[in-house]
Amino acid sequence: MSTADAPGLDVARLGVRFTIPGAEVAAVSDVSFRIQPGECLALVGESGCGKSVLAAALLGFLPANAEVAGRATLSGGDLPPVELLTAPDQVLARTVRGRRIGLVPQSPAAHLTPVRTARSQLEETVRAHHPGEKRPRVAAERVAVRAGLCPTDLDRYPHELSGGMAQRVATALALVGEPWLLIADEPTTGLDRALVDALLDELRRLIADHRAVLLITHDLAAARRIADRIAVMYAGRFIEVGPAADVLGRPLHPYTRGLIDSLPDRAFVPIPGLPPLLTDLPAGCPFRPRCSRAVPACQHRPSLAEHIAGHAVACYRPCSSP
Ligand SMILES: Nc1ncnc2c1ncn2[C@@H]1O[C@H](COP(=O)(O)OP(=O)(O)OP(=O)(O)O)[C@@H](O)[C@H]1O
Ligand SMILES: [Mg+2]
Repeated sequence: MSTADAPGLDVARLGVRFTIPGAEVAAVSDVSFRIQPGECLALVGESGCGKSVLAAALLGFLPANAEVAGRATLSGGDLPPVELLTAPDQVLARTVRGRRIGLVPQSPAAHLTPVRTARSQLEETVRAHHPGEKRPRVAAERVAVRAGLCPTDLDRYPHELSGGMAQRVATALALVGEPWLLIADEPTTGLDRALVDALLDELRRLIADHRAVLLITHDLAAARRIADRIAVMYAGRFIEVGPAADVLGRPLHPYTRGLIDSLPDRAFVPIPGLPPLLTDLPAGCPFRPRCSRAVPACQHRPSLAEHIAGHAVACYRPCSSP
């Protein structure tokens, strides 16, 4: 395969706004990134900053009160490029979801059919993606084991699955179609340490196998272990993006430093204050009201710009400066 048709996802100036009675929610604003096979990009940030909405926008899962802006172009492979934000639902269903992009949703139990066992749902997905498969039961068990399940777990109904098991069933379902890009939204929630390790090993294997992972997580330790790059999101925007070791080891944005300092194995000091309401964002830098390094310039919104090679930040007074 030439580089020209190597798969890739290019997101440019993605915005998502929701209209709710009497207000607009700016859930995602001006987000740009590229991801390609062999890479893991981790998306981190506090609850409500727009991570899951971003994932939903890429897969055409936004509700009717959402309005999107920007572009998200999925290209390469044997299939023609798809403009994810404008493609008809049938195109996304037939050529994207589960085939080129797999999603492990944040609330997996809600995505499982309550009246059918995990096995029947997984086998059905195997048959849909691999119509020639002679032994769907064996194929379903194989992918379940890769996701950290025992084959016997598959005989459970969704209400008999623990949160962590439902998470692993969702991971198995997302792996069946062998998508080159897996979007995993908090895939380690509800898993104990050994299962987190096993899941991260599986994600690492996918990356080594020339697939890509967009890992949405609160777990900075997980991000440190498998991500090549980390994007830190605040109030719907990317405010810092760079190599994982640099973002976590030498954070530039005061918010990123605050996130790291709030970890139990660090200073364990929470960031003061709360994130702004997405219905009422302050003018200028959205972190300004909570920032101890704010200067008058922060009344104007800083744009994300490269500060050190490959490491970008949206801040007038990054932590590397006095
Ligand atoms: N359908 C909707 N209508 C209005 N607002 C919405 C809708 N869906 C999400 N939002 C808002 O968009 C914002 C971003 O939500 P999102 O679920 O992406 O957060 P998140 O970063 O994934 O948080 P968490 O870490 O808790 O999963 C939130 O303020 C949420 O309330
Ligand atoms: Mg979420």
